[in-house]
Amino acid sequence: MKILVIGSGGREHALVWKLRQSPRVSAIFCAPGNAGIGEIATNVPVPISDHAALIKFATAEGIDLTVVGPDDALAAGIVDHFEHAGLKIFGPSQSAARLESSKVFAKEFMQRHGIPTAASGHFTDSAAAHRFCQESRYPLVIKADGLALGKGVVIAQTPWEAAKAIHDIMEKRQFGAAGDRVVIEEFLTGQECSVHALVDGEHYLLFPAAQDHKQIGDGDQGPNTGGMGTFSPPEKLVTPEIMERIHREVMEPFMAGLKKDGLRFRGLLFPGVMVTPEGPKLLEFNCRFGDPETQVLLARLKSDLVDLLEATVEGRLDTVTPQWDPRAAVCVIMASGGYPGSYARGKAITGIADAEALEGVTVFHAGTQMIDGKTVTAGGRVLGVTALGADLRIAQARAYEAVSKIQFEGATFRRDIGAKGL
Ligand code: AMP
Ligand code: GLY
Repeated sequence: MKILVIGSGGREHALVWKLRQSPRVSAIFCAPGNAGIGEIATNVPVPISDHAALIKFATAEGIDLTVVGPDDALAAGIVDHFEHAGLKIFGPSQSAARLESSKVFAKEFMQRHGIPTAASGHFTDSAAAHRFCQESRYPLVIKADGLALGKGVVIAQTPWEAAKAIHDIMEKRQFGAAGDRVVIEEFLTGQECSVHALVDGEHYLLFPAAQDHKQIGDGDQGPNTGGMGTFSPPEKLVTPEIMERIHREVMEPFMAGLKKDGLRFRGLLFPGVMVTPEGPKLLEFNCRFGDPETQVLLARLKSDLVDLLEATVEGRLDTVTPQWDPRAAVCVIMASGGYPGSYARGKAITGIADAEALEGVTVFHAGTQMIDGKTVTAGGRVLGVTALGADLRIAQARAYEAVSKIQFEGATFRRDIGAKGL
């Protein structure tokens, strides 16, 4: 089988790494890929927004299955375009991907289908949004409707902060059209977990849970990022009882809702769930694999990923049963200094081979590039240093030992990934 993966981050490196282990795969391509992906697959220099060029490549190369990483490609309708061209592709249709690309659409879906979530309202008129904030209790959560690279959510502690958020999003149009509407919602307390489920429209298959660390600083301080590290399983937070409630209260109504609303979804659903004192409540839907959740989940997956993705696209998830490594996995993100703000690029990276020589360690590349035979930094999140261990403490110690072997100028990382689970 020939496979094409779309994207260039750590998530896509993990997908390529796992797919490549399948005896069924004869060739694997990644558009556009990164330095690490280029070592194990063929990078294809086509931008993910150029669907026509990607379809042309997939047709000419005889690609049997395309797997989409990033949300913006899904929101732009890549799945519909590939299917229209008669190509097999893993991911939700454009209309279903609105569950991630429009928070208003997602909240209406949750309310219509009885999925527990924060109480909320939405506004297209900034004056009405401002009035609502004057009458609300704080903290209050303000969200731009559209995709904003994880930066479109503000937790306002005071009416002044709420007014500033509405001004920035709706009047200054900080995120462009993504801020034409805002969702304003109740602040939920608790810890978040990342749930991943393969969904084929009829059936779903839940992965073990993972926990992300969104803020840049130790102890969850500072601004939000795309995710600074993950671990799996988060046994303390996601107990068997919580998992059971996620099945009954999130996944089952989600599947019924897809059918009722006629949304075509053959891909991965990643609900972001807040485990509150009253139980799980849905914060958001993501319609794609998480980054860096994928790094720890695929490190723990023992089954052939090709079989699982193919079963999803073919609507027969009831015929597969994945096997999971009982060991724990930890992924520590090494980022460029300054991230999530501005940062330098082109810094030489050393020590990756030494890190990977340690038992149970895999280094997934995110923002890296090969220049004159040297691996250099090319993005905010640079590497996802991932380790398996008999328990969480061992996996964490291994991941940090591996991090200590890697150097690049300005490298920053959190020192407490996994500590929540201990
Ligand atoms: P979202 O993109 O909707 O997941 O929001 C980004 C982050 O903001 C989440 O991962 C949470 O950490 C936080 N957040 C979003 N909504 C709420 C809420 N209602 N209560 C508390 N925190 C929230
Ligand atoms: N790590 C969170 C996400 O992928 O959205």
